[in-house]
Amino acid sequence: MKSVLCDPRADAVLARLDEEARRQNADMRRYYDAKKQQATRHTDPASRVDMDFVRDKFVALDPEKCDLCYMLCRSLKARRVVEFGTSFGVSTIYLAAAVRDTVREHGGDGVVIGTEIEPTKASVAKANVADAGLADFVDVRVGDARETLKQAGGPVDFLLLDSWIPLVRPVIDVVGPQLRVGAMVVCDNVQLYEREYAAYTALVRDPKNGFRSVMLSHEGGLEISIKLG
Ligand SMILES: C[S@@+](CC[C@H](N)C(=O)[O-])C[C@H]1O[C@@H](n2cnc3c(N)ncnc32)[C@H](O)[C@@H]1O
Repeated sequence: MKSVLCDPRADAVLARLDEEARRQNADMRRYYDAKKQQATRHTDPASRVDMDFVRDKFVALDPEKCDLCYMLCRSLKARRVVEFGTSFGVSTIYLAAAVRDTVREHGGDGVVIGTEIEPTKASVAKANVADAGLADFVDVRVGDARETLKQAGGPVDFLLLDSWIPLVRPVIDVVGPQLRVGAMVVCDNVQLYEREYAAYTALVRDPKNGFRSVMLSHEGGLEISIKLG
């Protein structure tokens, strides 16, 4: 597996995680196909049953979207990155590599603040990040993101929203005021779950709220927003 990271150690960990995720895919396909047959238009991302099903699943961000997050973070020279939804740490590795590379190039320090409600997933994520050689740049906070992200510790340069959809608006309400002017926010699957994301997109797509926003046509729709002054 070759990412945009140019980091053989991180790429090796990502390849292993990709392999593990693929092994879960058959299970995932069966589950969601069965749901489709129940005549639901699409899966309800807020369903507690679905939440139970994905409790031990990767549900990782696509490699292409992770590459894009790396590029955006590098372009922003991001030093404080927040992630809602760490799972086993796939996207965290890309974000942490970007912060590390910014620190290497420009000095100073930096951190990715991940957050994961499942303690087992959080422990595995920390181990994966350490295997990738990136532990010094990651702080995975265990618990509900609405609490764990209240204090990011300084201005936030980049925010990735990739988690339980009903909490995305409450989480940006918590992190939004901590974003620096020019910060970027990336949110996955806004087109696939257009209705469920309505409260979120209403916020970021209205310039009166201090954001400019565009949806890219990546699978499921990827919303990219910038915070304005
Ligand atoms: C889509 S996965 C994240 C995938 C991750 N970004 C990656 O690329 O590997 C969403 C994660 O959010 C976690 N989660 C759900 N509700 C949460 C909450 N209230 N606070 C923190 N994490 C939560 C889930 O346990 C799940 O592991």
